[in-house]
Amino acid sequence: MTSAAVPPPHLDAALEHEGQRVPVRVTTRGRLSLAVTFLGPATTFAAGTVFSRLVFERDGKEMALSRARLTEAPRPGAAGVLVFVDDVYDCAALVDEGQVRNLLAFFGELPLVLAQREQISTEFRAFVADLNYDLTVYKKFFDQQDRVFEQEPPTVAHAAQHALLARAGDEFFGYLDRMLDRLAELVQGFTPEQHERHGYYFRQQLWPFIMGSAFMQRTNLKPRGYAGDAQMMDMIYDDAFQGRWVFNKLMHKHPIAHPGAQAVRNRRVLVPQMLHAARVGRPTPLRVLSVACGPARELADLFKAPRDCAELSITLLDQDDEALQTALSTVKGLETRLGTRIEARVVNQSVRTLLKEADLAARLGRFHFIYTMGLFDYLTPPVARAVLERLYALLEPGGLILVGNYHVSNRSRYYMAYWLDWALYYRTEDEMLEMARRLPGASATVSFDDSRCQMFLRVEKPS
Ligand SMILES: C[S@@+](CC[C@H](N)C(=O)[O-])C[C@H]1O[C@@H](n2cnc3c(N)ncnc32)[C@H](O)[C@@H]1O
Repeated sequence: MTSAAVPPPHLDAALEHEGQRVPVRVTTRGRLSLAVTFLGPATTFAAGTVFSRLVFERDGKEMALSRARLTEAPRPGAAGVLVFVDDVYDCAALVDEGQVRNLLAFFGELPLVLAQREQISTEFRAFVADLNYDLTVYKKFFDQQDRVFEQEPPTVAHAAQHALLARAGDEFFGYLDRMLDRLAELVQGFTPEQHERHGYYFRQQLWPFIMGSAFMQRTNLKPRGYAGDAQMMDMIYDDAFQGRWVFNKLMHKHPIAHPGAQAVRNRRVLVPQMLHAARVGRPTPLRVLSVACGPARELADLFKAPRDCAELSITLLDQDDEALQTALSTVKGLETRLGTRIEARVVNQSVRTLLKEADLAARLGRFHFIYTMGLFDYLTPPVARAVLERLYALLEPGGLILVGNYHVSNRSRYYMAYWLDWALYYRTEDEMLEMARRLPGASATVSFDDSRCQMFLRVEKPS
């Protein structure tokens, strides 16, 4: 086997010096500095030279970065080093993607962000201040107990913490619930802009408490770029305490015990039930498509016995490869448990690109049962309608589609928006039915889960 060294990514640009443009090639030296090679004939600049701009072209447009200083002059066989004087640019983003990302840009926006405070209602400010005070007191109390427990042998400490969680946990959860009711009273009737502004203010003020909850930390920081990734879904499904200290454990558990999260656990059971009911009397194998599958935990109730593995095949589609890997490990775990193979395949694709594909059925095949949970809540009405149309076209005659969507009256709505920074498209029953109105021959109904936070649109295609 032979291997050739791959040259590092570079960017061809020009440095401006005393009105002249000097062509250069830059590569990254670190995140915040560039290695620079001068391309012109016998160009020499001493260390310390300051260039007025670094310019380059991207998509036919000229991009310019502010003053840069040569901190090391190029030597034979070694590039020079360039750092920026007035701004701090992300040099990796610059060279790898041609993106200008100024890490100091936020500084320019600071006055605007600070001015937002003036537009927060007095009542809301008082509410947040009270919440802040109360949580500080609760935390102090719980931390004091944890410090005492820590001195004990692990089994004793564990038992003591368990007792505290059981005894004070309910009272603390009751307190959080009352504050959520108060929050709902305060923000009901807000415009989307007011929600956004007050939500931002809320999270800035309560940030240390939010970061104390493993779940809320992830929904806020969004390491996969969106709220609702496979790991968050797994936290909801596990429905367990997480964290070392009592306060962290409770702050993690409260949102995942709330009705909005219970609705997720409900659908994990309801979807397989509906599928098993729809399966009766149908020829096998039954082809099933899960759209935006996430960790696909519901498969445990879909493939319960070896017979299910013989009679069902599953296609798992998701835009996030990490979600698909989690879904695949769900499948592998079931195969081991049942001692047989499951006919499963994964498709790493966004439903948005799926909309652009002319002959989708040729690639994906046709299905008897299609379900999608936790996706339509992220889609605007036109995209949601278009996605449903495409899915309907993939359905075999006599087939069934199930679409989950949170209802406008979701009791966790403001919890999710304010504490979790988790925005959704909420819908009414009529809006759900409207999506199916133009599907040829379709009959559609809407039902709720027990939490009544979430609706299921059931669309049937005539045989
Ligand atoms: C809230 S989770 C729901 C996961 C799973 N259906 C469940 O109920 O556990 C949302 C999932 O939708 C996926 N998703 C979001 N937008 C998508 C899109 N445009 N196309 C495909 N998948 C998408 C995400 O990657 C994530 O895995």
